[in-house]
Parts: sequence; structure tokens; C-alpha cells
Amino acid sequence: MEKSELRSEDIIKRRSIFYKAFGIYGEPAGFYDFGPIGLAIKRNIERAWRKAVPEHPGFIEIEVTTLAPEPVFKASGHLSTFTDPIIVCSSCHSGNRADKILESFYSKKNDKAAITALRKMDINGMEAEIKKNKLKCEKCGTELTGKVEYFNLMFKTHAGQGTAEPMYLRPETAQGIFMDFKELYRLNSLKLPCAICQSGKAYRNEISPRQQLVRMREFTQMEAELFYDPKTDFSSTPLGEHSKSNKIFDTKILFAESGKDPKQISIKELIDTKKVPNEYFAFMIYKDYEFMKSIGFETEEYWFREIEKEELPHYSRCNLDVEIETSYGTIEVTGIADRGTFDLQSHSKLSGEDLSIMNGEEKVLPSVAELSIGLDRILLAMLDKKTVDDKERGWKWLKLEKSIAPYDYSIFPLQKDEKLVTMAMKISEHLRKKGLKCNYSDSASIGKRYAKSDEIGIANAITIDFQSLEDNTVTIRDRNTAEQRRIKWEEIS
Ligand code: GLY
Repeated sequence: MEKSELRSEDIIKRRSIFYKAFGIYGEPAGFYDFGPIGLAIKRNIERAWRKAVPEHPGFIEIEVTTLAPEPVFKASGHLSTFTDPIIVCSSCHSGNRADKILESFYSKKNDKAAITALRKMDINGMEAEIKKNKLKCEKCGTELTGKVEYFNLMFKTHAGQGTAEPMYLRPETAQGIFMDFKELYRLNSLKLPCAICQSGKAYRNEISPRQQLVRMREFTQMEAELFYDPKTDFSSTPLGEHSKSNKIFDTKILFAESGKDPKQISIKELIDTKKVPNEYFAFMIYKDYEFMKSIGFETEEYWFREIEKEELPHYSRCNLDVEIETSYGTIEVTGIADRGTFDLQSHSKLSGEDLSIMNGEEKVLPSVAELSIGLDRILLAMLDKKTVDDKERGWKWLKLEKSIAPYDYSIFPLQKDEKLVTMAMKISEHLRKKGLKCNYSDSASIGKRYAKSDEIGIANAITIDFQSLEDNTVTIRDRNTAEQRRIKWEEIS
């Protein structure tokens, strides 16, 4: 069931974690800016991803342009098939996303069977259902009577003047990786299996942006394309050795078989029951688990959903979506896709450049397993799920993983006393030189400052009081327990 407000909505607004862009020009839908706290959390999530994915041995990270010429998306299939179903209102002329209107209607009736059937429905079926149920325009409330059609989600522009070349803002970071794969493979002495990763902006002209960071027109993806030769036995590769020695396929996750509720299963069972195409794909499930764990998500807090054939993206033969239950209902935060040789083959064909590489003595067009994570959606899910509505304390706070919090420490002189302020500044500077981020504040009561520190998830607050001037000790307050202990400030790391 779709709900309207995040559990941390008041904190998000009060602390400008993120907010609608272009406020003085009417806030066009689907664009959000991030304030310093939101940006710091985003960067920390990205850092955790970097540690879990691009920094794995044999993986590399790149950055490519966000604009690309038309042939890229002709070959990738985005030009012809990257569409959503639209129904335009005959009165206010705004576009409504046909499948989402139906999904919202069915979920209000709690009709799970209809939601499952919707995943397989074509545009004619959607049009018939919208008309039968007399569904209305989301913007003006007029009954929708028009045709359901496909709408391409890419933003188009031109490079140069005169006979300008059509260019598109990338709808996924992945295509840049496919463009560069062959050269990167050669110049970086890569060996299959290897992954090329990228974090960056992607753009989709969503028909009806909604739920803040969930459906935006400009957003950040963290993607990894694992290139492999399916003929090579996984266990004989470095990834196989790593998996075996760390028993990674024994990891238990929640898996939702198509149309069913999630249940606990090991990654090994997914491989054995052929729910995933192979161990290379399974490895990307593990990488996602590792990342999610590092940012503080327990395995019970999300699940991997099997995607129906009819719902698969045009390039994928098998997909698992990672879903999280939030105040906005279930949201998809990640996709793992078996792209096979689809992209490299299509680009080889259209460009005339053979994108095969040499794997030892053999010429190979590698297959691809993709791990694609929506950074903004992960942030949104985190801000929702990690909110503690603490009645005893009297304020809401974010139970963020220490490494994800926007600052390492809050630093508070007990009062605005010159000696306390000087010492607090000195400690702050000392920690900053050690590479730690400090949130210094000497205004408002100490209780209010603790509340402000907790609400953005800072794990520890250091307070400098009059005893500190005597013996160089400070108090450290734990965000989770609100307990304080005294230590020598030089011991803080
Ligand atoms: N690269 C997968 C996606 O953009 O959804």
C-alpha cells in the first residue's frame, strides 16, 4: 500500500537533507538537491559501495560521459524499447503512468493477484482496465478515456550547431562501460572474470515522478558489470577461490519467488535450484549482500525478488530486484541482471568493431552479470528504516551505521565559556587533522544539541566541561544508549 510520508520526513525537512530543486522557479517535478548532511551520507554510502564492489581484486572503477550519441542507444535497445506506458488526460493534458495508476488502484483494494497479473499486462490490457474501473487523472481528477501508448524515457539534445548530432543523456551508466570495455581490458591487463564499475548520474524523463527520491528524473546509480566467459568453470577462477575460502555461497538471504512472500534461503540453494543462471550471477548477489551489510541493513530488512519474464528489461534474461518495505510501500533499490552478451554483441554489430577480447589463447565475447544500485533510493530507504521514534528521549533520531553518519563526532563545549570553547576547538582541529569529520556547536542548551546530533545519526558526542580544563578528560555520549563515559581526549580516534 502506498503511503505518503517517510518516518524521518520532519528531520529531512528541518535539516535540509534533501529538498526539491529550483524552488524559486516552481520546483519542476523529479529533481532534488542534497544539503550538506544528505550529501555526506550519500558519499559515505558510495564509499561503502566502493569498498565492497570496485575495490574487490580484479575489479576497476571508471567515469565516462553522461551524454552519448544516438547509435549507442540504438544498439543498446533503449531507443526502441526504453519506454513506460502513458495515458494522457483529455482535460489537463498531463501524462499519467498507466501501470502505476493501476498498481495504486489494486493496492488500495489489497488485490495481490491483480498486482501480479499487472506485471504481465500489455498496453491494450491496461487501457481496458483503466476504462473499466473509471480511473482518474492523478493531476486533475478527470476520468481517463484516452489511449495507452509507449513513451520513451530518454532526454534528447544535440551536440554542435547546424547539422547537429542527436545526443541523449544516459538512462543508465552501464552503456559507457560497454563502450570502453575492450580498450580497458587491454590497457589495464584485465583477465576474465573482471568487473568494471561506475558511480554517476543517470537521467530518465519519468512520466509521473513521485515519492521524492524514488522516481526522479536525475539520479545516481552505482553499477558494476561483471564480464566472464560462461565456458570457464567459476571454481577455477580467483572469484571462485575467494567464494570457496570465504564460504560466501553459504550466506543466507531473503528470496521472494515470483508472486510469493520472501523466505530465507542460502545463495547456494539459489544456484542448486537454478533460480539464478550461474555462480557469476550469484557472486553479484553476494556483493550486494556485503554492501548492504556494511551500510547497516540486516538481511531481514530487504529481499531479492524474482522478476517475471514479462517484466524483464529488454537486455536481461534473468533479473533479481532488491526490494525494501518503506513508508512509501515496497521500493526497488537494486537490480541484478543477466545481460549475457546482449550489449557487446549489439554494439559490435552496429559499430562494425568486434568487441571480443582474448581470454588466454581464445577469442571470447564475454557475458555480463550486472549489479545496479540506486544510490538515492538506498538513502531514502535508510532514512526511513533507521528512524527511531524515541518517546522516552522525546525526539526522533537516526540509527545510522557509524561509518555512514554525516560526521564522526559532535563536539560541544558545555557552555559558551571562552576556555571551554578554546579547548573544544583544539580537540576539533586535532580530530580533523586525523581525517575525522566533526560537527562543532556551542549554541543552545546541551540537551538540544544532543537532540540535533542524534537526529542526524552522529554516533558520539564529545562534551568539554570544566573538569576537562583540569584533567584533559571529556565525556563521550553514545547516541544509541545516551550513556556517557569519561576519557582522556587524546585517546579519541
Ligand atoms: N543498468 C540497469 C538499470 O539502469 O536499470
